[in-house]
Amino acid sequence: MCGIVGFIGHGNVQDVLMNGLEKLEYRGYDSAGIYLAEGGQTGHLFKEVGRIANLKETVDFDLPAVVGIGHTRWATHGMATKANAHPHQSMNQRYSLVHNGVIENYQALKTEYLKNIQLNSETDTEIVVALIEWFANNESLSTKDAFKRTLEVIEGSYALGLIDKESPEVLYAAKNKSPLLIGLGQDFNVIVSDAMATIDVTNEYLEIKDKELITLTKDAVTIEKFTGEVVQRESYIAELDASDLEKGTYPFYMLKEIDEQPTVLRRLIQSYQDEQGQAVFEADLLKAVSAADRIYIIACGTSYNAGWIGRSLLEKIAHIPTEVHLASEFAYELPLLSQQPLFIFLTQSGETADSRQALVKVNELGLPSLTITNVKGSTLSREASYTLLLHAGPEIAVASTKAYTAQITVMALLADAIRASKGIEASFNMERELSLVASVMESILAEKAAIQTWVEDSLMETRNAFYIGRTLDYYVSMEAALKLKEISYIQTESFAAGELKHGTIALIEEGTPVIALITEEIVGAHTRGNVEEVRARGANAIVISMQEVARVDDQFVIPTVTTALAPLVMVVVTQLLAYYTALGRGLDVDKPRNLAKSVTVE
Ligand code: F6R
Repeated sequence: MCGIVGFIGHGNVQDVLMNGLEKLEYRGYDSAGIYLAEGGQTGHLFKEVGRIANLKETVDFDLPAVVGIGHTRWATHGMATKANAHPHQSMNQRYSLVHNGVIENYQALKTEYLKNIQLNSETDTEIVVALIEWFANNESLSTKDAFKRTLEVIEGSYALGLIDKESPEVLYAAKNKSPLLIGLGQDFNVIVSDAMATIDVTNEYLEIKDKELITLTKDAVTIEKFTGEVVQRESYIAELDASDLEKGTYPFYMLKEIDEQPTVLRRLIQSYQDEQGQAVFEADLLKAVSAADRIYIIACGTSYNAGWIGRSLLEKIAHIPTEVHLASEFAYELPLLSQQPLFIFLTQSGETADSRQALVKVNELGLPSLTITNVKGSTLSREASYTLLLHAGPEIAVASTKAYTAQITVMALLADAIRASKGIEASFNMERELSLVASVMESILAEKAAIQTWVEDSLMETRNAFYIGRTLDYYVSMEAALKLKEISYIQTESFAAGELKHGTIALIEEGTPVIALITEEIVGAHTRGNVEEVRARGANAIVISMQEVARVDDQFVIPTVTTALAPLVMVVVTQLLAYYTALGRGLDVDKPRNLAKSVTVE
């Protein structure tokens, strides 16, 4: 969480920083700030609480800056106040620093080194910048050595950008666990949390590894280890299209991303199948997955919810026993592992700290892993044995939509490829059924107006709501509930429909919305029975199904697709339902309160 950007060299520093921060706002939007140095020991600090738009109003775009750093914050240590906003400065304002991550030993460092230093914020970051100055003054070190000394004593996660206003011809950077890239330009260089934020100034990037110290001038970048050994590294071209980052005529990214799902699905069929309909996964990867006696899917949030559908696909189609684990739990309480496990990390961003921590554990054990991610070159893709890309294009709305359906599609295609490689007979043609799914998604998207009206009638005033379903429908209901609660703030819970009567039914009151998902015929009759039970207790029962259901308050019937892939279409209705609820409540759909898109702290 938090986004950082820095620029040194020829160009409009303020423009690059502010445009970059706007694109990084998905990483946090509690406060934002920039620091600009002009040379001649003159620097300027601008900070505001809230969105980048607030900061933009206060920045002086005419200052002749030669270097700058910027930050958009998701609060960890300390409230969202101006004092806690980054950049933070050392006591005499010589050093200015931006930070993404958490310094775990900041209290101990404060006690050991900074007892007599007046601090102005509640942040761990201010300790880091104060330490740099402390080492420079007390151990008579150059800025670079004082920075290195600080990096040697801090513990935790960080991506850092540092300016010494006495030498504004240099920008310093370092990272540990948190993401940071170097962007290379003509007469300028940048540091940035995500290449997408500076793609309009350069598409050439350099990776930084943990515990390296980077010095940037306008025409050179030096990477060195803490031992002083200089590291040579090839740059790469980021394949991002600046137009993918625009909202176009859409009011919110979320709606654009919901609409993109049929295109993403067709793109995935093309990416992972050849013209004869044969799977085109790397042979080594197929061998590794087929050899597994058990698959462990590890993920967080929406990706975790997609994992449950993936589990069903891998078990039913590829016949491999599969478990799903929350990354934050898995990292600290390993289940008893099978003889030949394979670990699948599902992560849109490829940067989620909880998932990364679990991957670190898996790598320590020397076991094979596959990351399924939307971001090429992301930390989890670099550190896993294999990677499969989601090809979904940048997902900018905080609430994940197209990544969920893309993750399920990749797992369906992978399961089908393993099935074929094992000689298991197919129960349906994957390519044909996925193509049908894409068309059914389009027909649902064409019904937006009806869904909006339906939402306005049922959900606008409620304080809580329930989703119910059985088997696959239950797994979809987990995602449906997450989507509705995170952007509309309606307390929404999902339940396995059969469990309702074992306690939760006590919460049903007159008018409580209960949305039942019914696609699996084998359990449909039971779920319909549960709908009757909640109606009898006054609930407003709404059904989303592939067939008409009698005696409900409202229903949305979707065209039939094969049961195994039904989650891909069911979820679209629930995404629209969440979107129109948040829209109707006048909320900022793309940036729900308290959240950030890329969760890079544990
Ligand atoms: C919810 C949402 C989050 C993410 C979760 C994992 O809409 O987006 O729950 O799914 O933070 O993120 P990734 O997939 O990037 O690891």
